[in-house]
Amino acid sequence: MNALSPDTVDIDKIIARILENRKYRDLNMPAETVKDLLRRELSRAKDLKTAEKNAREKLHQIIAPYLGDPDYAQAQRTLAAAQAGGVAALRVWCLEMLAAHTSSKERIPVMERFYRQIFDVTGLPNSIQDLACAMNPFAIPWMNLPETVVYRAYDLHSPRVALIQCFLRAWGLPPLAFVRDILLEPPQEQTEVTFFFKEAHRFEARRKGSCAEFFRRLQTNWIVVSLPSENLTGQHQMRDRQRRLIDDAVKGEDWTVIPLEIEKEMVFCIRKYGEEKNSNP
Ligand SMILES: C[S@@+](CC[C@H](N)C(=O)[O-])C[C@H]1O[C@@H](n2cnc3c(N)ncnc32)[C@H](O)[C@@H]1O
Repeated sequence: MNALSPDTVDIDKIIARILENRKYRDLNMPAETVKDLLRRELSRAKDLKTAEKNAREKLHQIIAPYLGDPDYAQAQRTLAAAQAGGVAALRVWCLEMLAAHTSSKERIPVMERFYRQIFDVTGLPNSIQDLACAMNPFAIPWMNLPETVVYRAYDLHSPRVALIQCFLRAWGLPPLAFVRDILLEPPQEQTEVTFFFKEAHRFEARRKGSCAEFFRRLQTNWIVVSLPSENLTGQHQMRDRQRRLIDDAVKGEDWTVIPLEIEKEMVFCIRKYGEEKNSNP
């Protein structure tokens, strides 16, 4: 047996040590995520120290604290005040939340157009699942969705998910936000449109080739994947690499891919089942 087999190492002790780190202590993320990272690193690292170090690095990329966070306790309080102020105040509050995270902040100037262009392709959905959502559900006021929409949001980060639940309630929607590692446990609800924004390249970094299997397991008419067209500093173009990622993920499948480019995001509308609304957006 390999000396670094998870069966010969006290993996629970290492998981506890990682989760106690100041960066992660308050996030209540699933221990299964850390376990998955450790098991993979243990199977290929030369020693325990290297395996733990590599797992910690991967976790840092997954949680991405460098992309920004609001003060969640304070945000809960200001949400209550915004709700009392009505729709206009709630929209202002949402903009603050979207601006607290780099991924959603970049989208603010084009937000309304961003969702309109996507729904021109997919049709206006009655159900959406927003996977690895971060702050994106706070853009709901700009999506112009039907009032009866079923909107499910998933993330690893508990304070974020709790805030999203409160917002969904305040906006008059059921609080369907969940803490879940969607790579380990892809949602199985039948959904018209799936958002998977700015995360597919991170999935591939966590586990090479994972997007193909992940996309196959989703029960959805459309998977709308977005990827950054340049890196965070804006110095490196990543267009070819991102197109290859999508090509590899849909290889061998009878799916249609409709590409869009909206500001700094490459958007791929992947039709798994159902009708295409408009193939020439
Ligand atoms: C780069 S942000 C994506 C932001 C969002 N989709 C957007 O474009 O506005 C990454 C988010 O995905 C979450 N995440 C990463 N891996 C995940 C997983 N396996 N399951 C659920 N959430 C995940 C992180 O906690 C973080 O909130």
